[in-house]
Amino acid sequence: MTKRENLDLLLKRIREIVNSHLRRDEKLRSVCRLLRENFPHYNWVGFYLAEGNELVLGPFEGEPTQHIRIPFGRGVCGRAAKTKETVVVQDVSKETNYLACSPKVKSEIVVPIMKNGKFIGELDIDSHKLSAFTVKDREFLEKVCEIISDIL
Ligand code: SME
Repeated sequence: MTKRENLDLLLKRIREIVNSHLRRDEKLRSVCRLLRENFPHYNWVGFYLAEGNELVLGPFEGEPTQHIRIPFGRGVCGRAAKTKETVVVQDVSKETNYLACSPKVKSEIVVPIMKNGKFIGELDIDSHKLSAFTVKDREFLEKVCEIISDIL
């Protein structure tokens, strides 16, 4: 199977999870698990959901994080919430507006989830690899977030 087919298959599985009878948080956790299992460079995968001007940690897979609530604007997650744009940080040691979770993390991607033009949450992925996220990851994860917006 080619890579393209793999990604399409994963999107299909994510649609199945979204349309299943699981509870919302179980759906989100299943998506985290699926992504983490299929991409060895996705070490922490989680959702933050918007509440007023703050992000609140939702379902995730990976080591526990101390960042349970993040104001818009703070860290990489807060920046994506404020700009409503995907943020890719190829080397977190060079990022000044960064909230560290684990010293093992080297790069990060945060993809906003939008619904009817409104920011409602985001998908955050940490990698232990430097420059782990390519344009392909970004495009794929933006599609994932479009699908996820249906259940938020
Ligand atoms: N590194 C993030 C904080 C969240 S953790 O990665 C789970 C940031 O700078 O916003």
